[in-house]
Amino acid sequence: MTGLSTLRQELESAQAQALADFSRADTPQGLYEIRTQYLGKKGKVKAILKGLGSLPPEDRPAAGQVANQVADALEEAYQQRLVELKALEARRRLEADETDITLPGTWSRRGAVHPLIRVQLEIEELFYSMGYDIADGPEIELEYYNFEALNFPPDHPARDMQDTFFMKSGHVLRTHTSPVQVRYMETHTPPLRMIAPGRVYRCDSDITHSPMFNQIEGLVVDTDISFRDLRGTLEQLVHHVFSPDIGTRFRPSFFPFTEPSAEVDIECFACHGRDTQCRICKGTGWIEVLGCGMVNPNVFRAVGYDPETYTGFAFGLGIERFAMLKYQINDIRLFFENDIRMLRQFR
Ligand code: PHE
Repeated sequence: MTGLSTLRQELESAQAQALADFSRADTPQGLYEIRTQYLGKKGKVKAILKGLGSLPPEDRPAAGQVANQVADALEEAYQQRLVELKALEARRRLEADETDITLPGTWSRRGAVHPLIRVQLEIEELFYSMGYDIADGPEIELEYYNFEALNFPPDHPARDMQDTFFMKSGHVLRTHTSPVQVRYMETHTPPLRMIAPGRVYRCDSDITHSPMFNQIEGLVVDTDISFRDLRGTLEQLVHHVFSPDIGTRFRPSFFPFTEPSAEVDIECFACHGRDTQCRICKGTGWIEVLGCGMVNPNVFRAVGYDPETYTGFAFGLGIERFAMLKYQINDIRLFFENDIRMLRQFR
């Protein structure tokens, strides 16, 4: 009996000591080390249990039970103290941290797609869905592509210094996206369908003209393309961007690279022709939005296509003009000033 009660005493005093040590620990790491001193393989509780073997066999179960109770109690006390110490550690970390987490955060504001890009994407989407390729070309262009290959006679007024930015290198800043037609035809064979969006430059500046602006060119070439195809395509474009109930009107016009050529007007969506004072259509009921025509055989010749075999249509539109009409923006410079109050309206 003496052996058992001694063992029990030893265990109980080890437990009391361990609990006192646990409460003195002040970091989770320190606490873990103390736990090892008692419950580890070489710990005090294990050492006491070594004495178990010297007890009479009938006392061993009781002694084992006490040992288990002590071990369980210590493990539980350890876990409890660990939770406390972790909380303490977190509090210390917060106190040492300069960041005041109670300050309100900063909002990241939602951006908006620029109205020009919006119109461009809308048009690209339509033509992409109709199987058109989307192409591009250089803004610094050879006169050959900007003029010659497009059938501009050498003395054509559009080559004049007033419209064209000529560069010392002999290049020009392209005055339209039509040179992309030529480059595209040089590297593709019909049948083909493509659009080419991009920046163009003209020496011109007022509230409806900017020295840099954006156009979208369109070109379709096949063996049997007619003016009807052109007309249907452009009507779809107008319906897609403006409204399906907007009528169109094709007026004869002239471009060196198309024959016949036309300018396309859309019905005034503001007054529908009813207001003689209308500021959008100037009382005419119509608004000019596009240039187009059947590809001039000379352009086909320049790229080595046989004009007896192929026909095609082409068109060109100003993205700024479309966007100004669509969103009722009355000054082209608003597109380029990056005034946040204007851009915010397109969220
Ligand atoms: N390139 C012409 C312009 O800038 C537009 C156009 C393109 C006209 C294609 C007809 C065919 O005004």
